[in-house]
Amino acid sequence: MTSIISITNSKGGVGKTTTALNLGMALVSEKKRVLLCDNDPQGNLTASLGYIPAEQSHALANLLLAAIDYPEDLELHLGRTIIHTDSGLDLLPANRRLADAAARLQVMQLSQYNAVGEVNRACEKVMSVLLEQLQDQYDYIIIDCGLKHELLTVNALAASDYCIIPVQAHFLASEGIPDVLELVKSVQAKFNPNLKIAGILLTMYQSRPQLCQSVKASVSEVYGEDFHVFQRPIEYSIKVAECPAAGQSIFEYAPKNAAAESYRSLAEEVLALG
Ligand SMILES: Nc1ncnc2c1ncn2[C@@H]1O[C@H](COP(=O)(O)OP(=O)(O)OP(=O)(O)O)[C@@H](O)[C@H]1O
Ligand SMILES: [Mg+2]
Repeated sequence: MTSIISITNSKGGVGKTTTALNLGMALVSEKKRVLLCDNDPQGNLTASLGYIPAEQSHALANLLLAAIDYPEDLELHLGRTIIHTDSGLDLLPANRRLADAAARLQVMQLSQYNAVGEVNRACEKVMSVLLEQLQDQYDYIIIDCGLKHELLTVNALAASDYCIIPVQAHFLASEGIPDVLELVKSVQAKFNPNLKIAGILLTMYQSRPQLCQSVKASVSEVYGEDFHVFQRPIEYSIKVAECPAAGQSIFEYAPKNAAAESYRSLAEEVLALG
């Protein structure tokens, strides 16, 4: 069985892409078969693995469009698009053309009110149709969500078993949580009753400033009763910030860094989800 996990938050720069990459890598080192899906037209996850988004002639956008227009050709497109990286992770890359695919989904949304009963043709389920083709080829599919195109995030959540919500341990950063919880609730009600929140993950955590500790305490206090807060926050480290330029995960770039240990701890909790 494949577990599909979306990494999402309605706030930018909180560590979504960093978490997708390093959680994926931690799972690979546990001998799991992992596909990372870059679901952001910025293509940051693609770039973090050392690939130039604009140079990818086959990317997630092509797959979404094929799933809409030529579902019978999807398997062929998947074979061309998935990159087997040297690190053992597989990648579905993204680039700016994903914004065009998002626009196409929006056009579908405007016209689909008449298409009663065609659940698999719904604009919110295109990614589900696509990822279904990969069922059983992977133990984990991790989807890195962007900010701008809500339909892309809705598609990711509609296809997912779990979502992880990274929250930067800074003042006001937890303000993004209510929006993402509302979106998850709406997807659960309309498209995917099986979607569960795996937990809230504190990122860029520094133990010294009082501020980080008070954000940690307030997130636990406000959300801890209803949602899991992952045991170990991800430490702030300049080494983590340097990783994307090297095209590597923290496990390759600085394996002894505290953040590597934290991502390992996150992976253990994810493995325990089953
Ligand atoms: N633990 C960390 N320590 C230091 N820097 C970090 C850490 N985690 C992420 N960063 C850096 O913070 C920036 C934002 O991280 P990231 O790109 O993962 O966030 P994001 O939520 O995916 O952003 P976006 O909303 O733009 O997609 C990046 O430059 C990244 O390298
Ligand atoms: Mg990102």
